[in-house]
Amino acid sequence: MEYLGTFPAGFTELVKRLIERDTSSHELMFYDESVIALRSERPLTRLPYLKNLYPLIAWGRAKDLQSAYQMVLHTPIQKALASSAEPNTRHNFVIRVFIEGKPAPIIRDLHEKLEKAITEILGGRPHSERPDLELQLHLRKNQQCYLILQKGKRLDEELPAGTLPPYLCRLLLELSEPQKDDIFLDPFMGSAAIPLERARLGPYHMIFAGDIIAEKVEHLKTTLKHKQWEKRRKTIFPKVLDATQLNRFEDGFITRIVSDPPWGIYEGLDIQELHRLYSSFLREAARLLSKNGRMVLLVGSGVPLPEILSNSDIHLSIIEQFSVLVSGQKALVYVIIPE
Ligand SMILES: C[S@@+](CC[C@H](N)C(=O)[O-])C[C@H]1O[C@@H](n2cnc3c(N)ncnc32)[C@H](O)[C@@H]1O
Repeated sequence: MEYLGTFPAGFTELVKRLIERDTSSHELMFYDESVIALRSERPLTRLPYLKNLYPLIAWGRAKDLQSAYQMVLHTPIQKALASSAEPNTRHNFVIRVFIEGKPAPIIRDLHEKLEKAITEILGGRPHSERPDLELQLHLRKNQQCYLILQKGKRLDEELPAGTLPPYLCRLLLELSEPQKDDIFLDPFMGSAAIPLERARLGPYHMIFAGDIIAEKVEHLKTTLKHKQWEKRRKTIFPKVLDATQLNRFEDGFITRIVSDPPWGIYEGLDIQELHRLYSSFLREAARLLSKNGRMVLLVGSGVPLPEILSNSDIHLSIIEQFSVLVSGQKALVYVIIPE
């Protein structure tokens, strides 16, 4: 089976690494800054660090939309499409067209030809208002084009504003190289998306999740009462705390910090306040992290984190840095270790 995975722009190298680690028989067919196509002998339903994973029905190169339609019309799609849709069911469907990720107008005669070919395979009929299946024909800016099948609802839609989606938390957590004896801290937890995803990811020793706002911490306590957290709730510690004063933790106690501190823009912090917040927090992080500790931070592109570190006596080094896009905003991911 062939699949197309999507992920936030900027994480290509990490996603390639993770797919190579996690899928036994695979081949990467093509990729760019936010999509990756792979072949797997084993059927895949999801990979937790991908935003979506779609069955890939056809793919090729095309200089324009007309040649993208032609590419699909000349590809034998019967097998891929029939095996991705539920067997023995008639499926009404819609084909949507995207250029560089944005909805684009169809080319009517070619569109109708494609609908006809798909009707013969799926048995249903084109139905744009209540489709059972959505097919998407994409043309990317590198002339890569592909037809994918969208089943079910898209992720991302029900998350409250400011909450990081689970696949993004997973990407950040993977960069921290999680270990089974981790004593983990997210001192700016917000909705606790990162610490809860760390708990789902695999074994750990303890997870501390903190925020300066007591209601957020109460909310996490309530979440942990749900049955699904029964086994793990005794190892997750919600705390009201100020990330700039973490004296409740001993020096070298924490093995991993993964966090999404305030970016300044939403909180209305000016550059001096941002400087103060980050230098105090980084100083505390340097004190708390164990010798082989690791910290991963997602920060808005306006936060001068490298300058704050290099103009201070804080003993932390940035070992990797990625420019990424999070909900359309430019951001940076830093992987940091003690010096
Ligand atoms: C960008 S949000 C984190 C969002 C979170 N990753 C999520 O997915 O919901 C930053 C959080 O830091 C908290 N915060 C701001 N200043 C803080 C401080 N000095 N100490 C601890 N938490 C703080 C805010 O209340 C906010 O919840």
